[in-house]
Amino acid sequence: MKVLVTGAAGFIGSAIARAELDRGNDVVGIDCFLDYYPRAIKENNLKALRGNKRFSFIEASLLNEDLGPLLKDVEVVYHEAAQAGVRASWGRDFEIYTTNNVLATQRLLEACKGRNLRFIYASSSSVYGNTEQLPMREDHPTAPVSPYGVTKLAGEHLVRLYWANFGVPTVSLRYFTVYGPGQRPDMAFHRLIRATIRGEEFPLYGDGDQTRDFTFISDAVAANLAAAEKGKPGEVYNIGGGSRVTMHDVIAMVEILTGRAAKIRETEAQKGDVRHTYADTTRALNDLGYKPKVKLEDGLRAECEWIRSVILPLERK
Ligand SMILES: NC(=O)c1ccc[n+]([C@@H]2O[C@H](COP(=O)([O-])OP(=O)(O)OC[C@H]3O[C@@H](n4cnc5c(N)ncnc54)[C@H](O)[C@@H]3O)[C@@H](O)[C@H]2O)c1
Repeated sequence: MKVLVTGAAGFIGSAIARAELDRGNDVVGIDCFLDYYPRAIKENNLKALRGNKRFSFIEASLLNEDLGPLLKDVEVVYHEAAQAGVRASWGRDFEIYTTNNVLATQRLLEACKGRNLRFIYASSSSVYGNTEQLPMREDHPTAPVSPYGVTKLAGEHLVRLYWANFGVPTVSLRYFTVYGPGQRPDMAFHRLIRATIRGEEFPLYGDGDQTRDFTFISDAVAANLAAAEKGKPGEVYNIGGGSRVTMHDVIAMVEILTGRAAKIRETEAQKGDVRHTYADTTRALNDLGYKPKVKLEDGLRAECEWIRSVILPLERK
């Protein structure tokens, strides 16, 4: 089988590509290396893939590449490409979000019409916004509180429309904070671990009592492979990790794992950040057999090791 991974140089896309190669499939990857974080990190994500004969990679944007040839013989599209990040989505940069998250998704969907493939869309828990209803369930109202969340929700609507109108079998996965080796450098765990190992300050947004449902990368990848096989077309699934904790809990764990005291500087909560996330994953369990396996402490240990062995040496280059 041949699959297409968009955003293949990114955190989640590169991990999906690796898993598909590991189970013997051919993988086509596309990424335009948006400069949201250093290219060196993305090149490192690709390193393990590039050596594989069944992997081909195109450096291009979904916004202007001829997508027809790219989709030839492809049976599954994992659409991970996006401008990620909540906090940067205000102001002038919103255009980066609308073009890469909305227009690029629509362009890809157009190219998928009439083809025999399944389409898995990377959505986000940010579509829910601030809600009193916890855990969050797929049929709860959506009311994003960040411009980023608005674009991810627009993408969800688009993929549903292309299923309803053109029969492209699309599935949306709402990821809840994915972490682990490869995590983007703007994300809290990455920043916290890096700062703690280096003895630097970690600016904590808000009072630290905010909670997140954290999902280890291999669980997010497993959800994608299961969705490609068993996802119901037109459906939306929460993909959480079953590890809902406060930032204070995470800081304490990182201090134990790194053997160092974190230097925390409390700063104001950021506009666009929600107070709590907590996934009800019953639907994903029932339809996809999805059950998160990796405990937070084990996942954090793996991320600490990756930051020590990959990120810090990369920074010294
Ligand atoms: N990491 C998380 O916790 C999380 C949570 C919820 C949703 N998501 C979603 O999951 C997906 C992957 O996130 P990630 O953390 O791996 O981000 P990432 O930034 O590491 O990867 C996304 C990749 O997409 C590429 N890209 C963006 N626009 C493109 C375009 N027009 N053409 C080609 N490539 C393009 C970027 O260069 C980048 O390498 C995104 O859609 C994101 O919105 C991530």
